[in-house]
Amino acid sequence: MTPASFSDYRELARRRLPRMLFDYIDGGSYAEITLRRNTEAMEAVQLRQRVMRDVSTLSLATEVFGQKLSMPVVLGPVGMAGMYARRGEAQAARAAEAAGVASCLSTMSICGIEEVRQAVRAPAWFQLYMIKDRGYMRELLARARQAEAPVLVFTVDLTVPGTRYRDVRSGLTAPLPFWAQVARGIDGLSHPAWLYDVMLRGRPHGFGTLASALPHARGASEFWVWIRANFDPSITWADLAWVREQWPGPIVVKGILDVEDARDAVRAGADGIVVSNHGGRQLDGAVASVEALPAVADAVGDRLTVLMDGGVRSGLDVMRALALGAKACMLGRAWAFPLAARGGPGVAHMLETMRGELATAMALTGCTDVRAADRTLLARP
Ligand code: FNR
Repeated sequence: MTPASFSDYRELARRRLPRMLFDYIDGGSYAEITLRRNTEAMEAVQLRQRVMRDVSTLSLATEVFGQKLSMPVVLGPVGMAGMYARRGEAQAARAAEAAGVASCLSTMSICGIEEVRQAVRAPAWFQLYMIKDRGYMRELLARARQAEAPVLVFTVDLTVPGTRYRDVRSGLTAPLPFWAQVARGIDGLSHPAWLYDVMLRGRPHGFGTLASALPHARGASEFWVWIRANFDPSITWADLAWVREQWPGPIVVKGILDVEDARDAVRAGADGIVVSNHGGRQLDGAVASVEALPAVADAVGDRLTVLMDGGVRSGLDVMRALALGAKACMLGRAWAFPLAARGGPGVAHMLETMRGELATAMALTGCTDVRAADRTLLARP
């Protein structure tokens, strides 16, 4: 199949990956209501078609935190990408750089910060979870500074992990009985392209960035035990001041859905926020990102940079998010599936596809400069 869209890449990834990994990417928490709501709410945003407005020249470029982007897109932090494709985080960062967009390395990456730094000329952003051991946090932030990460994305909506039923069933987050482990092994063996690319050529498979904090977690389920024990549920806005002491550059707080939290982020001195429900992987029943976005952008959009993620599947969705007040979108599954399906070239192709879709959306809504996108582009503002 020649992939043309997000759902094509999702299908290719489904065929290529062992079930456990596909479900890890595809799934959400509990009944997956918020996961579905993210895309349904996105689809419900209607753009206003305009004609006869000379759209022969379009400008898709923008700037966030002083960094020029060829379009308002950032590859967001996605854990374990090095298990989807060989040295996946490095491949994705390279594809992003070639496309002129930014990428953000997850704390839970397989490739360490240093490896990704080596892979690109322009350093990637870094995403941080708050771990109880502040000494280790200091060390992590020093490594990110050393790797010249220009932006720190501080994810605050995973103080406790939401349960993803698919990950329980697959054995990713809970140990499996013996025969289920055998079945999982057979499933792995029946995906030879992935086996060759990742298991044979893509070693080592430890968590590159967290390696020294992890006491040799054997298998993924032990890793989740470690997360439950070590992520810090006591964090408050005062901890942002602590992070600020360690980090001279811009700090973006990821996981804001509420206007009051957005105002607190401003008061606490954040440089940006990501309106996000973690891709429907945390609080099931939370509002869709795209539904939360307009009120948050109205409340704080003039005081910090508002990014959003959740349900962005195409360049048309990027246009929708911009019209509702986002400065740029972060992608999650929209780059994870292309990476799993085709490696770095898959990510590169998806980004070019999105660029084309965004350009078309701009032309047909009469928007010639992406930086000027606002609610006048909506059929029902
Ligand atoms: C994520 N997300 C995430 N966020 C984060 O801050 N750190 C992380 O390590 C991860 N890991 C991760 C793994 C996978 C497989 C997914 C799908 C998501 C959340 C991610 O950054 C983003 O918020 C969502 O993916 C956005 O939703 P969509 O567009 O992917 O549906």
